[in-house]
Amino acid sequence: TVSQDDWRLHYHVMPEANWMNDPNGFCMWNGEYHLFYQHHPYSPEWGPMYWGHVKSKDLVHWERLPIALAPSESYDKDGCFSGSAIEKDGKLYLFYTGNQWTGPDQETDLKQVQCLAVSEDGIHFEKINENPVIDKAPDGDVHPFHFRDPKVWKKGDMYYCVLGSQTKNRMGQALLYQSSDLIHWEFVNILAKGQGNQGYMWECPDLFQLDDTDVLVMSPQGVHPEGDYYHNLHQSVAVMGHFHQDKGNFTSEKWQILDHGFDFYAPQTMLDEQGRRIVIAWMAMWESEMPEQKQDWAGAMTIPCILSIEKEKLRIDPIPELASLRYDPIRYQKLIVDQNKKLDGVHGDCLEMKVSIDAKEATKFGLNLRMNETGTERTNLTYYVDEEKIVLDRSKSGKGPGGVRKAPLALQNGKLQLHLFIDKSSVEIFMQNGEKVMSARIYPERDSTGIEFFSDAAIEMIQLEKWSLKQSV
Ligand code: FRU
Repeated sequence: TVSQDDWRLHYHVMPEANWMNDPNGFCMWNGEYHLFYQHHPYSPEWGPMYWGHVKSKDLVHWERLPIALAPSESYDKDGCFSGSAIEKDGKLYLFYTGNQWTGPDQETDLKQVQCLAVSEDGIHFEKINENPVIDKAPDGDVHPFHFRDPKVWKKGDMYYCVLGSQTKNRMGQALLYQSSDLIHWEFVNILAKGQGNQGYMWECPDLFQLDDTDVLVMSPQGVHPEGDYYHNLHQSVAVMGHFHQDKGNFTSEKWQILDHGFDFYAPQTMLDEQGRRIVIAWMAMWESEMPEQKQDWAGAMTIPCILSIEKEKLRIDPIPELASLRYDPIRYQKLIVDQNKKLDGVHGDCLEMKVSIDAKEATKFGLNLRMNETGTERTNLTYYVDEEKIVLDRSKSGKGPGGVRKAPLALQNGKLQLHLFIDKSSVEIFMQNGEKVMSARIYPERDSTGIEFFSDAAIEMIQLEKWSLKQSV
């Protein structure tokens, strides 16, 4: 049996109670990180959206703040949907989507407009009188009401924003707007448009520069499975390309899935004072089973990660600040493992582990996480050498959703590097130093804390480091 708090996470942001989804308004203001989130404070189900609010000095320890936005006006009466934050003249502005249903049909009687709220203390926000600042979708091949999730930035003297949209015949696209004062917005262009299997609606777009590459991160809905790709109901992708500010368009060169696991959606990025591009996502998925709802809460954030580009590929690494949570280090070196092996001190439900494995002659090896005594409950990660593939299987993870996710992954000089974060109801697995990541919610029994290595022939654990992690949320 699982008690009330067994799945509450220890170092991932989640609401005190009730529902959350997308990260919103992720920014730095007056030297502190602020993070808001889509929140329904009255039940563990999605409902009229509010913005929950936390802040942090180090992206690890978070302080809860009062709800920042609540539906209160005719233009946002059915929800303050996703959006972003920006500083102007020392004040903190939230740019969000006002959601209204104008009739009984949730599909067609929908109106979405863009709105601003402002704060001088970073805690209390007031909606401005000029709202809605963008009161309808632009003309052209733009769906009239799926029009949401403004992400704003400043360049030179101008403010820009990208918005999620779809064409009239339901292909995902992103729109570009500009403004000199945050209040008067001019539609510039359709920034980018999907084709084929690129989703019917692009939610939560985010455009930024990494080195010399422009990156459009967004969350296309309704991408269809293709081989090992796109098995989630909705995906989070990064498109690398070039933003032509003069023309207001983005030419895309490469699509990359941001997370190959199950639970990573609506990511939002921010540039911090150290110049790092940090990303955080909702660690859940629409229409996924969420057993914690029976315990009166639902949803959490991923750990914050740093995005970078190497050899034209986007890399994703956990923020180094998380090391401040480590205690009880355990280390193994040059250890040969064949068949099934548990290591003294290597177990737990709230930990970080780095392991570098030389595959040697093995064709199949991996780990079982959150395993019970008998092995009937376990979350399985297996690497297949010949197929150059990694597989995360949560079909025996415990309660909640099962499923398998696969990702192509090559060994590097015969080696596999894994960097894992386990929390009370999650695993996040970074592979080959940030080349790929898989995030998943899992719902094991409290006592399922075992970690077991397995292999079909001798592998060498060149180095294994493991730390227990303190609670920070
Ligand atoms: C993405 C999303 C956004 C919307 C919000 C509503 O998960 O659907 O497009 O603004 O969630 O909660």
